[in-house]
Amino acid sequence: MAKGIGFGKTILFGEHFVVYGLPGIAGAISNKTICEATPANGFEFVDKRPAVEGYKQTKKAEIASQLDAIKKRFTKNILQKGVKITLAGDLECASGIGASAALATSIARALNEYYDLNLGDDEVNKIAFEAEEAGSGKGNVSGIDNTCSTYGGMISFKKNLAAGQNKISTLRVKKPLRIVLASTGITQETKKVVADVKKEKEKNPERFEKIFSEYEHLYTKAIAALKEGDEEGIGKLMNHNQKLLEEITVSSPEIEEICQTARSSGALGAKLTGTGRGGLVVCLAKDQKNQEKIAKAITQKGLVAKIAELGSQK
Ligand code: MEV
Repeated sequence: MAKGIGFGKTILFGEHFVVYGLPGIAGAISNKTICEATPANGFEFVDKRPAVEGYKQTKKAEIASQLDAIKKRFTKNILQKGVKITLAGDLECASGIGASAALATSIARALNEYYDLNLGDDEVNKIAFEAEEAGSGKGNVSGIDNTCSTYGGMISFKKNLAAGQNKISTLRVKKPLRIVLASTGITQETKKVVADVKKEKEKNPERFEKIFSEYEHLYTKAIAALKEGDEEGIGKLMNHNQKLLEEITVSSPEIEEICQTARSSGALGAKLTGTGRGGLVVCLAKDQKNQEKIAKAITQKGLVAKIAELGSQK
């Protein structure tokens, strides 16, 4: 049996902005998807991943397109030796957690081992990106999710819009970040939300230019705050980033309510993470006690909140 893993991720700064070549910051969480590859006839797929209600149904077409891309990439191998792919692990699939990237990364890794191909992380990342593009449509994904899922840790990411190498650098944070990931319970299709933002941008190019430049300043400050371990600063910048995300129409009343609950429970900052218009909210806690307090306040509203640390390494 061969195995492969793919980390879940949390975007701390810059979702949607990264699609337009602006830099973003994301960290892997320790929860991961584990793929097992075992002998079979042809190609079989079994999905045992935990998931929030409705996730697998909403993502059915996206997952099918991702699998098609992966099958295409490994056609020759599959023809020679069939494979059954079984996905499991402790990453609960939800919008915003990088579940589709973790699916692609874990399968690419498992097939690499199963077929003894000796592919390095860069190649695994490339295959995962192709699958992400197949799932969400060319131009709708930046590559930040699969990069985080493949390499782990915390990264700064800048998409090369000219289709060359993306700029990726590892960020060494002073202290691990204690976060709470709260779910709105709503699953969104990245493809649709990214397309809507594109339309908004086309309607209001000047307004978007202003927002983009404000975001770029914010990103520079965020890098400095992370390096210095200035958690209060990071939290304030997360709140600011959330305002900008609201302006580009990807927030929602459910997200705003969670952000409010987290802040009034002492969170240093809170913002949506990933696609938005539902999905997850990332809240930055001061310490473990505060982390528990935030999670409790959100849970008391009947929502799911999970405690995590940002920056898990492979
Ligand atoms: C999705 O997790 C993040 C987006 O910025 C799309 C992407 O960068 O691939 C919305």
